Amino acid sequence: MNRIGLLTSGGDSPGMNACIRAVVRKAIYHDIEVNGIYNGYAGLIKGNIKKLELGTVGDIIHRGGTILQTARCPEFQTEEGRKKALRHLQEHKIEGLIVIGGDGTFKGAHKLAEDGFPTIALPATIDNDIPLTDYSIGFDTALNTVIEAIDKIRDTATSLERIFVIEVMGKDAGNLALWSGLAGGAESILIPEESYDLHQIVEKIKRGYNRGKKHSIIVVAEGIASAVAVAKQIQAESNLETKVTILGHIQRGGSPTAFDRVLASRFGAKAVELLVNGNYNKAVGLYNNQIVERSISEVLSAGREINRSMYQLAQQLSI
Ligand code: F6P
Repeated sequence: MNRIGLLTSGGDSPGMNACIRAVVRKAIYHDIEVNGIYNGYAGLIKGNIKKLELGTVGDIIHRGGTILQTARCPEFQTEEGRKKALRHLQEHKIEGLIVIGGDGTFKGAHKLAEDGFPTIALPATIDNDIPLTDYSIGFDTALNTVIEAIDKIRDTATSLERIFVIEVMGKDAGNLALWSGLAGGAESILIPEESYDLHQIVEKIKRGYNRGKKHSIIVVAEGIASAVAVAKQIQAESNLETKVTILGHIQRGGSPTAFDRVLASRFGAKAVELLVNGNYNKAVGLYNNQIVERSISEVLSAGREINRSMYQLAQQLSI
């Protein structure tokens, strides 16, 4: 393989740049040229492609976002869109493609693989909702961003003896809410994978206040309910002042943690190795701290699971 393509797609996540750097440097180490495809699959359809040099990826390991830009691209789901993309890959003599992103990106990669194009998919999303990998690039950084916010909110919540309902991202998955709720010492965690009883939540808040607690933190995953609605219900039922914070896109930005930089570097290097060895149409993941590969189709057909014992632990620790 002499030339490969690289793109980032979907929502950005901290560590994508570290991954881009790893792919480019590992490929150059193997005498392979890397062409950067700008703006994700949309850029591939338009032919927005430029050669990446060693220097292009200097000074980016610590930066959030993606130097390749990204996009959500419904056109890539159409055969016509993919035909244009494949034509550009051929015109640029690109023999293999590495895509970095979340589930939409993986679906695009699967389609390309079905079309016969050698493709490798790397999980990068703050949602950590890609099956068969313990972590996706960006989750750890987003988690730390949420924790920092919860810690700050707790200070003011305690001072004024308020309830705070904090909404975190995650699309239809509850990982970010669960991990941040446990790490942030939340009184209750509401996630799409588990049902909840508002009455019990209010009872718990009241028990806490009766024994002298000065704050209550409720973490709500965006995929189960709006924090505004939950706060209204809690205030109506408890008669206690309840405030809302929606963390929003702040969760997607910032310098990646050391964990995400290392993960991204390992994933990026593995992707190049797979292409060099002719091991195509694979998704890379982390399992038991080992970098592993599975077929993209296996990952897409595997069910997503929340860590139920962690959910139970969070409940036990917040009685
Ligand atoms: O998939 C990452 C994510 O940040 C989700 O958590 C969130 O629901 C979504 O993207 C937001 O997407 P956008 O920035 O396109 O509104």
